[in-house]
Amino acid sequence: MSEMQQPAAEKKQVIFSGIQPSGTLTLGNYIGALRNFVKLQNDYDCIYCIVDEHAITVRQNPADLRRRCLELAAIYIASGLDPQKNLIYCQSHVSAHAELAWILNCFTYMGELNRMTQFKAKSAAHADNINAGLFTYPVLMAADILLYQTNLVPVGVDQKQHLELCRDIAQRFNGVYGNVFTIPEGYIPKVGAKIMSLQEPEKKMSKSDPEETYIALLDDPDTIRRKIKRAVTDSDGEIRYDPENKPGVSNLLSIMSALGAGDIETIVADMQGKGYGELKNRTTECVINALTPLQSEFKRLIADKGYLQSVIDENAQKAAYLANKTLRKVQKKIGYAPRG
Ligand code: TYM
Repeated sequence: MSEMQQPAAEKKQVIFSGIQPSGTLTLGNYIGALRNFVKLQNDYDCIYCIVDEHAITVRQNPADLRRRCLELAAIYIASGLDPQKNLIYCQSHVSAHAELAWILNCFTYMGELNRMTQFKAKSAAHADNINAGLFTYPVLMAADILLYQTNLVPVGVDQKQHLELCRDIAQRFNGVYGNVFTIPEGYIPKVGAKIMSLQEPEKKMSKSDPEETYIALLDDPDTIRRKIKRAVTDSDGEIRYDPENKPGVSNLLSIMSALGAGDIETIVADMQGKGYGELKNRTTECVINALTPLQSEFKRLIADKGYLQSVIDENAQKAAYLANKTLRKVQKKIGYAPRG
């Protein structure tokens, strides 16, 4: 085909997702979100945000928050995201997020926010600080997504309810003002959408729980080995995928499968006649193999703060350009006075 005959480059669909810089990232964040960000980067226009505005819904130490934002930028890049192809930036550097969130607050009902299970869980965990930001947290998340006319949102299963609310808000707004927002779909992995705690495998693996319950992305091999060795299983000794009755064993199988050891049935077939010790050894191997390259790249990147700063600065400008296009359209639709 001659150059003249070539079809115009097709516009790629848009992906948006975010991670809070509010603590150590866990293997759950990696499997449920980060590793999918990397997989999707070639086929979509991707925007991966460091959601520092969400992080302050619980009290943060300012120096730690500042440090963690750059660390998260380094983790995004170390896990394989190319900062030339993906927008990696801090939410607070693009004021359109907060501005759209305010507008969307006026299109969201108290009853809807009251139903959010994460709000209920976080209010119970931070009973001394149940602030309005914690309550309207999903509205800011909706603003994040809708600002970029996002098609697909890769997240773990714990964000599904927030995503559904985002779609409801967008549809409500579009119902009044016409097609302003693209209605986003979730991208929730089949395996690994909810990695469980190593000590209480009925509960999600979470950075806010004690150390022994999660694997941190930056844990060294000995720590990973120790934590998986102590992971709670059960007493029947059979290797079988049955999350309801065998949550601990099923969690280890999900981790292995998500990290590339094959589908769960094949792993289970392979492991027949073997004991939990062997299951744990093989899980440990998968986790160490997945995290070691990320960790060495992280160490290299975090030593170059100037580079990380330049990535988030440049990408915030590009993100602001895109976000402002949607924001201006929204402002016009709702009747804000035009700017001179
Ligand atoms: P956050 O920071 O709590 O978690 C980041 C991502 O990791 C996923 N995740 C898990 N996946 C599997 N197993 C687990 N144990 C596990 N723990 C966490 C989460 O589902 C998430 O995808 N509200 C979001 C951040 C956010 C956002 C957004 C996401 C803000 N704006 C817009 C998507 C789109 C959150 O708190 O994620």
